[in-house]
Amino acid sequence: MVLKTSVKTFNDDVLRQAVDFLKSGDVVAIPTETVYGLGGDATNDAAVAKIFEAKGRPNFNPLISHFYDLKHVLDYADLNNDALILAETLWPGPLTIIAKQKDGHDLSSSVTAGLSTIAVRVPNHDIMREIIRELGKPVAAPSANRSGSLSPTSALHVASNLNGRIPLIVAGKQSTIGLESTIIDCTNDTPVILRPGYFGSDRLSEVLGKDVPYLSKDEQSKNFEKPKSPGLLLKHYSPKKELFINSLTPSKDSFYIGFGPMIGEFDALHFINLSEEGNLIEAASNLFSYLYEADISSSKDIHIAPIPNKEIGIAINERLERACN
Ligand code: TXA
Ligand code: MG
Repeated sequence: MVLKTSVKTFNDDVLRQAVDFLKSGDVVAIPTETVYGLGGDATNDAAVAKIFEAKGRPNFNPLISHFYDLKHVLDYADLNNDALILAETLWPGPLTIIAKQKDGHDLSSSVTAGLSTIAVRVPNHDIMREIIRELGKPVAAPSANRSGSLSPTSALHVASNLNGRIPLIVAGKQSTIGLESTIIDCTNDTPVILRPGYFGSDRLSEVLGKDVPYLSKDEQSKNFEKPKSPGLLLKHYSPKKELFINSLTPSKDSFYIGFGPMIGEFDALHFINLSEEGNLIEAASNLFSYLYEADISSSKDIHIAPIPNKEIGIAINERLERACN
């Protein structure tokens, strides 16, 4: 079915419209500090089914539930001590915690795709928070892109993915962080980072006062039947064009995405810099929108300069590696 998709700048009226759609079991794209999400009432089976349908997402891949505050999270998830410390220190913020589900909650079973665990996050974005508060229910929200495509950091990018598939895109500013939340599995004694993001191992280890490792590549690919994080096995965004990472040698037909002071000569059809000052946080916030731009440009291919593999650069490189293989 083709729907008419409205893109509306957030105000009190749009808040009411968004909440009305959610209450009637419809889905709405909503900005968050990481990327735009495609939200639905997480307790409504029909709404959750619409999320999977609009994205074209396989139903074995579970969704993150978004809450207004920690208190509401505790009705749905059993947070162990590590999880509680992380939640109290870093929420609201770009961190998703995997925890055991609490018995007797009212979440639609397809949100968790049959797992015994649940992914929970308290986002740090006024628009998303107001919508959750007014709805009074957890909001299930994957990134608001078609499955296999790049996460959107602006309302325009959501529209290019989901136009005609959802009734409303709530437009806010460009997402400030620009990469999806860090996902940490807190279901065992040793917490493990399943998806790197704004918070990396350094910060999480500091908060918990112990080493918090990244999930190893071996662990990731092991056990396909019962993966730690089903979404990590899926092919992530790949641009339509060929993508070369760690490149210092674009061709004259390339869209070249640089980082830091670019010394030396190079030829390229288009050139844009993720951060002239070499600031990794700025680079992360520009990454997805520059990749979008590169993909729709007239270039033959896309080259990206090396990004230092530290701090949020670890998350940038993880996304880039998954985009080019
Ligand atoms: O920043 C974000 O996290 C954004 C915004 C909208 O909040 N959301 C987002 O959702 O990136 P999505 O669906 O694109 O990615 C969620 C990832 C998927 O890879 C999924 O497999 C994983 O979280 N996940 C969800 N529930 C899980 C669970 N119980 N155990 C392990 N992984 C889980
Ligand atoms: Mg996604």
